[in-house]
Amino acid sequence: MVELTQIYMFIIIIVIIFISQPIFAKEQELLKGFTATPDSSVKSFQPLLSDSLGNYSFGFVRVDQTQLALAVIHVQSLEQVWIAGKSPLAKWSSDIRLLFNGSLVVSDKRVGVLWSSYTDGDRVWLSNTSNLLIESSGDQKLMLWQSFDFPYNTLMENQNFTSTMTLVSSNGMYSMKLGPDFIGFYAKYDANSNSDQGHLYFQHNPMEAKAQVMKGQGPIRAMVSPDGFLGMYQNGSTPVDVLPFSSFQQPGKGNRRVRLEPDGNLVGYYWARSSWLVDFKLISNQCDLPSSCGPYGLCQPGKGCSCLDNRTDYESGQCVTGENKLSNDNFCQTKYGILRRTGVELPNKEIMAYTIMSSLEKCESTCEQKCTCWGAVYSNTSGFCYIIDYPIQSIVEVLDVTKMGYFKVRAGHGKDNTLVGLWVGLGLLCGLVLLLLGVGGMYLYKRENRGVKGYVEEDGMNGGVGPYKNLGTSSFKSIELSER
Ligand SMILES: *[C@@H]1O[C@H](CO)[C@@H](O)[C@H](O)[C@H]1NC(C)=O
Ligand SMILES: *[C@@H]1O[C@H](CO)[C@@H](O)[C@H](O)[C@H]1NC(C)=O
Ligand SMILES: *[C@@H]1O[C@H](CO)[C@@H](O)[C@H](O)[C@H]1NC(C)=O
Ligand SMILES: *[C@@H]1O[C@H](CO)[C@@H](O)[C@H](O)[C@H]1NC(C)=O
Ligand SMILES: *[C@@H]1O[C@H](CO)[C@@H](O)[C@H](O)[C@H]1NC(C)=O
Ligand SMILES: *[C@@H]1O[C@H](CO)[C@@H](O)[C@H](O)[C@H]1NC(C)=O
Repeated sequence: MVELTQIYMFIIIIVIIFISQPIFAKEQELLKGFTATPDSSVKSFQPLLSDSLGNYSFGFVRVDQTQLALAVIHVQSLEQVWIAGKSPLAKWSSDIRLLFNGSLVVSDKRVGVLWSSYTDGDRVWLSNTSNLLIESSGDQKLMLWQSFDFPYNTLMENQNFTSTMTLVSSNGMYSMKLGPDFIGFYAKYDANSNSDQGHLYFQHNPMEAKAQVMKGQGPIRAMVSPDGFLGMYQNGSTPVDVLPFSSFQQPGKGNRRVRLEPDGNLVGYYWARSSWLVDFKLISNQCDLPSSCGPYGLCQPGKGCSCLDNRTDYESGQCVTGENKLSNDNFCQTKYGILRRTGVELPNKEIMAYTIMSSLEKCESTCEQKCTCWGAVYSNTSGFCYIIDYPIQSIVEVLDVTKMGYFKVRAGHGKDNTLVGLWVGLGLLCGLVLLLLGVGGMYLYKRENRGVKGYVEEDGMNGGVGPYKNLGTSSFKSIELSER
């Protein structure tokens, strides 16, 4: 009899553990006093909060294996639709803590606060379109903060994109901002130059078919409509512009979103039960992308990529070796060579600034004398001289041989690689030796420690104990599985 009761108890406990895991992971609100610490055994995502449908989840994301970001992800695709602060906040470590005390706060034991919502709310929850919200309780529930006001690279349907916001591509190169009456796309290839937002590489102006943008009537906003278009609005709900997706006005498509891609394009997707399908690309022509063939690449419409320098083979998008930026501040302090090519023009030259010059020589010498000029493109028929004051990206091939390009190539580009290879090899070898020594040392150290203290840190059984401590990958997988 006694044995039977014990077996029953055992079974009940097992069942409770089984049931409680997904329930924990599907937590639908966080209240004051909540804390969580990243779990070292988590491989990709540690869920902390879920929306009512289980489509989206808020939690810690591992980036590049060692970094930690606080993010909202789409559960089935693991797509990151929002990231706090637009970038990883810290190293993935048990020193990091997320707490909710009215503000959502991420802090590091040693460094202090890394990110905060700076609010005084009572409750955090996730809407079924992935908006993370902080609300006050009481008679009137006031929305104090929403992640939709701080977009990363993605806009979800019904999310307002206003002139105070910026979308940034995941590689940090491209950004999207609203101008007074247009959507502007900006590129910044030199991460070192924190001068401004970068140069405008694409612009979308409203068609103003049903309503017009009125000067002085307030800023415009953009929004992805559930009806399948990217709309621009000024006042009210009549759009001043509609950019239709290919599934325009087809009801019943799942959640929609647009994302600023690492190639600088704005791409629209909708969820089709098991995957995201593309139904919109703002820049439809490959050669119109700002860096379609990489630095010093030549985009040949309908043919693909080659290199500006016809002696270089286009291999894996690399027309120049080494880094495409200046070691010194400018070309007046750097050695460089010159590359010329006829039959070329800038992508989207319509929006690029130019000066009219009487000859190619004048255009070239203007660039030559300018320390920050990387190159120039000249049209012999119109006299337009385009000065390129950012690292050379892809240029478009045209049949018109009166269009000519002049490009500075930093000395050292295409240099002998074997020496570099040797140093890399030596570095790796040293690293390996150090690693082996380190592992050996660690092993000895741990063995001694175990004897004394009697607990094992690497098993993840101590440190940062909270209700979410052991809800790592395993429980997350269970969400994924139950979704299918
Ligand atoms: C959200 O969940 C519903 C119900 O489970 C499902 O039909 C829908 O496809 C999901 N949408 C997304 C974007 O995952
Ligand atoms: C919440 O915690 C952070 C970090 O410890 C602190 O700076 C902040 O003042 C706290 N906020 C409230 C409302 O207590
Ligand atoms: C999503 O939430 C909104 C309001 O919060 C609700 O009206 C809508 O029905 C929900 N969608 C689904 C698919 O449950
Ligand atoms: C977007 O902006 C419009 C107009 O200001 C407003 O009516 C609407 O509630 C906003 N939507 C969200 C999700 O904030
Ligand atoms: C490469 O370009 C130069 C200058 O435009 C031209 O003179 C030369 O013939 C080209 N070489 C090849 C192999 O196409
Ligand atoms: C440019 O135009 C001028 C006069 O219009 C002409 O003399 C010259 O040959 C042209 N140069 C090239 C490279 O086509």
